[in-house]
Amino acid sequence: MTLRKPFFGGNWKMHHGPSATRTFVREFMAEYPPREDRTVVFFPAAISLAEFRATAAGRADLLTGLQDVHWESAGAFTGSISAAMARDAGASFILAGHSERRHVFGDSDDDVARKVAAIAAEGLVPILCVGEKLEQRDAGDVETVVERQVQEGLSRLEPGQIADVVIAYEPVWAIGTGRTASAEDADEVHRLIRGLLIEALGEGGARRIPIIYGGSVKPGNIDELLAAPDIDGALVGGASLVPADFARICLSGQR
Ligand code: PGA
Repeated sequence: MTLRKPFFGGNWKMHHGPSATRTFVREFMAEYPPREDRTVVFFPAAISLAEFRATAAGRADLLTGLQDVHWESAGAFTGSISAAMARDAGASFILAGHSERRHVFGDSDDDVARKVAAIAAEGLVPILCVGEKLEQRDAGDVETVVERQVQEGLSRLEPGQIADVVIAYEPVWAIGTGRTASAEDADEVHRLIRGLLIEALGEGGARRIPIIYGGSVKPGNIDELLAAPDIDGALVGGASLVPADFARICLSGQR
């Protein structure tokens, strides 16, 4: 990967079936011309991935991934999808440990670690999502929570595999709430995460890993966030469902 280009992910969550995906992709391509100086990855619903890729055929710059996978490669797990199946369908990135997976579906730190390892074992890039809840921030526990989630999330990887991850810092209280962390507050946590990566990989390796921010990112706040030294991009939920808004976000940060 050519890393530390600004990195933008669109996490569609449970929105946009195949028909809405087709319309979105056409509109987005009209608003966002291919750019080599940034990475753009979409995380549609699994059922819409093929439609996304078919509509965006010819736009190799628009990468795709899934929002979650099971850690086993195959088996009797009704409703689940494996990393191998995701790769076969054209995914190159997979989210692991998104706060909705942790707090709505009950994914534990070890479940997340297993998923991260399964994703890396398939040669795909895991995007490890971490972030504290509001009560944990109010109790002064941001460092402890984020450190634990990063260390445990990466604990089943070999050092060589850690070099190929993306970390998304998404404070739970900022997701879907319209409340964004200030660029300063977010950057402080990104610096903490960078420090953990430096311990694992050394300075050179750690500096190549994108650490992206998520939580109510919009066209109106992306420039300020991206200007912070350790914020390398964004994972965007709500605003990634609107082609013009997400295109505007993906075009910011002309470094
Ligand atoms: P949001 O979601 O942009 O709607 O806050 C971000 C995310 O959950 O990744």
